[in-house]
This record gives sequence, C-alpha cells and structure tokens, in this order.
Amino acid sequence: MILISSDMQPFSPERSADVRKATGQLRQAAQERHIMVGSAVRDFPLRFSSRYRRLLGGEFNMLTPENAMKWDVVHPQRNTYNFSQADRIVDFASKREFAVRGHTLVWHKALPSWLTKGNFSPDELRSILKDHITTVVGRYKGKVYVWDVLNEIINESGQFQPSIWHTALGEQYIADAFRIAHQADPSAKLFYNEAGAEGLTPHTDAVYELVRKLRSQGVPIHGIGFQMHIDAVEGLDYEGIRKNLERFSKLGLEIHITEMDIKVQDLPGTMEERLKVQAEMYRKIMQVASSIPNFKAWVQWGLTDKFSWITDSLPAGKKDSPLIFDKYFRPKEAYFSMTDTLRRGRKPGGK
Ligand code: XIL
Repeated sequence: MILISSDMQPFSPERSADVRKATGQLRQAAQERHIMVGSAVRDFPLRFSSRYRRLLGGEFNMLTPENAMKWDVVHPQRNTYNFSQADRIVDFASKREFAVRGHTLVWHKALPSWLTKGNFSPDELRSILKDHITTVVGRYKGKVYVWDVLNEIINESGQFQPSIWHTALGEQYIADAFRIAHQADPSAKLFYNEAGAEGLTPHTDAVYELVRKLRSQGVPIHGIGFQMHIDAVEGLDYEGIRKNLERFSKLGLEIHITEMDIKVQDLPGTMEERLKVQAEMYRKIMQVASSIPNFKAWVQWGLTDKFSWITDSLPAGKKDSPLIFDKYFRPKEAYFSMTDTLRRGRKPGGK
C-alpha cells in the first residue's frame, strides 16, 4: 500500500488507473477570475468522511448546506429551533474561510407539519415568518455570506407558486422577507433563487419583472441565483442563457449559479460517451456564465456522484453521474473542461 501525505494529495482516488489528479485547480482558476466555486454539503459525510472533508476543503471556497438550514430541520416545532447540523457546516466553513450560501428562508417545500397543518391566521403566519427569518439569519450574522431569501416562488407558467406564504399573505410577504433578513444581518447579501429560470422563457420574464420591481421599490435584494438542474437530453440554448443572465446583470444584481448538476441518465450511448457530452455542457455553461460581468459564484449541487439528490433517487434501471467528481471522488471530464474554460478566459481579450 502506498501512503500519500494529505498535504500533497487533497483526495485519494480508489482506482489507480486514473492518473489525473485534482489539486485545487478549479478553485485556483476560478479565483483568478474572481469567481467563487462551491458545493452543496451534507452533514453526515462532513462529519464522518475525512475524504469528503479533504476533497471539499481542497477544491472549493464556498458551500451551501444542502438541507441543514431548511425549515423542517432548523425549526421542527413552533417554539423549537435545532441548529446542530447547520452549526457544524458553518463551523467547517469558518475554519476554512469558505463563504456560506444560506439556503433557504422562504420556500413551499421542506416545511414542518406544525406549520403546514397549523391553520394559522395571516397575522400569525406573518409573525411566524418574521420570527424564523430573524432567528435563523441572526444566528449566523457575519457568518453567512449570502442568503437565498426566496426559493422557487414563480412557476414555469410565470405565475406565483402556490404556498402557505403566498396564499395567506399575498405578494407583500416577498418584500417583507428581504427587509426582515436585511435587518437581521445588514451585511449579508440577499438573493432570490429560482429553478428552471436559466433561459429566455415566460417563466424568466416573470422572474425578471418581479426582481426589477423589487429593485425599483428599494427592497434589499442583491442578487439572483439560477439553480441549473440540467437534463442533458433536453439540450440547452446557450445564447438564450447568455442574454437572460445579462439582463439580470444589467439590473445591478450579482449572479450566482447555485445548484449545478447535469443528468445524463436519458442520453444515448455508453456512460463514457455521455460524460463527454456532459463535460461539453459544463464547459459551455461556464463559458457563458464567466462572460457575464456580475457573475460571482458557481455552486455544484453536491460534492461527488456518491452524494447527489439525482443518484439518491434514480428510476429503476437508470444510471447517472451528474456532478464533477465521480462516486470514487475522482475528477471527471467536466472538472477539467470547467477549469480549462476559466483559464482560457483569463487571457486579455480572451473572454
Ligand atoms: C434537494 C436536496 O438535494 C435533497 O437532498 C432533498 O431531499 C430535497 O431537496 N431545489 C432546491 C434544493 O432549492 O433545496 C433542492 O434540494 C433541489 C431543488
């Protein structure tokens, strides 16, 4: 057995056949472009896998707790908060000087049943929401760099997503949520994070209108997060994405890619062929994103294919590999295509 010092080797591939090593190249290339690179993080492997901690610590400088800050985890009863998972993740981040993307304060999912089944009046809900945002944001004041204040509030047809918040409180809760968060931590950046809003569609037109209105009303919203859960078989309109990101950037908003992964389970061909298609998609999305002036952060929705919500719930008979490290923690083609793209863009006039 060969023992390699962890200082030299930020991850330990299980198969020696793969000779290419990831050594923080992505983070370094991104840093040179003033872009943060991150991963969604789970409490369990962070606690129990040193390999997970090493890879995360060696390759990224930002993280998002994947589930640990959601309502059902941090606020399991009306008068009980539980920050044990979130605290551990934020501690890791503080020690490594990682930026934290807090995720998420207002969403229609991951809500505890005391809340969804509580038959609360609008006034009660307003005060519950205020207490939640004030408590959670307050706890991590100065430690969370950016909060996803709103998550997925407009649906594909451009309508407000039904939720307990919207149904009881109407549109007003949106501006209120930003203001309350701002009061709890005036230095945190406040974002609206949306799913499927990458391209130019009626959905994104509605998102754009909402954000434009909030900005014009002086609501403290500083950025927009594009989740980017991509299905490779559907393809992408890169020019549409570029134009879309550009228009949000022109509003003066910071742009983050917040939940990047690319499903390949329905692509034809061998897994090797599919991963080549995937790597090209990662490359092109990075090309587009890094050409946008206010683009500041790229977050993978999971560290490795071993810990992904896509591979967690695969339909029978399907295989997938949506992230940039495989299930053995080895860097994939996508890792190198992204790194390469960032490096090329570094040259003067090379953007
Ligand atoms: C997902 C997590 O990855 C899963 O582990 C969990 O079971 C469900 O939520 N959009 C979001 C994320 O904003 O919070 C979701 O995360 C994925 C879709």
